[in-house]
Amino acid sequence: MIEIQNVSTSFASAAGPFTAVDDVSLHIRRGTIQGIIGFSGAGKSTLLRNINLLERPTSGRVLVDGVDLVTLSDAELRTKRHDIGMIFQHFNLLNNLTAQENVELSLKFAGVGKAERRRRAAETLEIVDLADKAGTYPAKLSGGQKQRVAIARALATGPKVLLCDEPTSAVDPRTTSSVLQYLADVNAEFGITIVVVTHEMNVIKAIADNVAVMEEGRVVEQFDLTELRRPGFHPATSIGRYLVSDEIQLDRSGRGTHTTAASEGLINV
Ligand SMILES: Nc1ncnc2c1ncn2[C@@H]1O[C@H](COP(=O)(O)OP(=O)(O)O)[C@@H](O)[C@H]1O
Ligand SMILES: [Mg+2]
Repeated sequence: MIEIQNVSTSFASAAGPFTAVDDVSLHIRRGTIQGIIGFSGAGKSTLLRNINLLERPTSGRVLVDGVDLVTLSDAELRTKRHDIGMIFQHFNLLNNLTAQENVELSLKFAGVGKAERRRRAAETLEIVDLADKAGTYPAKLSGGQKQRVAIARALATGPKVLLCDEPTSAVDPRTTSSVLQYLADVNAEFGITIVVVTHEMNVIKAIADNVAVMEEGRVVEQFDLTELRRPGFHPATSIGRYLVSDEIQLDRSGRGTHTTAASEGLINV
């Protein structure tokens, strides 16, 4: 469904070009939920934005449903993007629009007529159980409800792929389960392929079929969640083992207070 081939993305910086995504290749199977995990700054968001060309890769190919997005014209890309929905950590709703109007806006951009916009927005708000909040402004919604409006907005154009950048990082743990449940339902009911970027292993464990571990712009390892659940499974890299261990590990000797979590010695492998 999604084929990322040798994708690199560099940014100009004072010290010269900085490579945020470094020669990543990843195959994401249709109808699956792909997790991408890593620490802050690993390049996860940049890689996710490479999938819909919100961030155009410096090199490499991105095929969605067999179409190489990098070769499309601007007009073709705009059309293709209707197949690719996206949600964000901070929801990105417009505060001066109601839930319904926020959802309708994505349909307006897709050139959908007014009556049809109304119908589809109501339908997608129904999917996330927010029909009763259609006329409510974001300020009056909880974090979980805002994210559900954002999911409805992403679903309104009927995408085949849903990209999620830290979808639960701004909500409390109980709301996290609810948001993830809606994503799992959307995947199961509509067969939408989902890519979830997160720094939280519990999110991966709850929802993903496969996970790619990123460090310094590279995918350093990848495994199926069935492997992860197998007793005795041991990730190949130290960062993989650290993330899977899912524990806060402190050095209580008094020497490690200011070292980073990923540094040597804190990784108890
Ligand atoms: N538009 C940009 N310009 C310059 N540097 C960027 C830009 N976007 C991201 N970066 C840098 O690329 C690295 C990876 O960023 P990002 O993809 O956001 O990582 P993550 O989502 O894993 O935290 C970071 O060091 C970040 O500062
Ligand atoms: Mg990020």
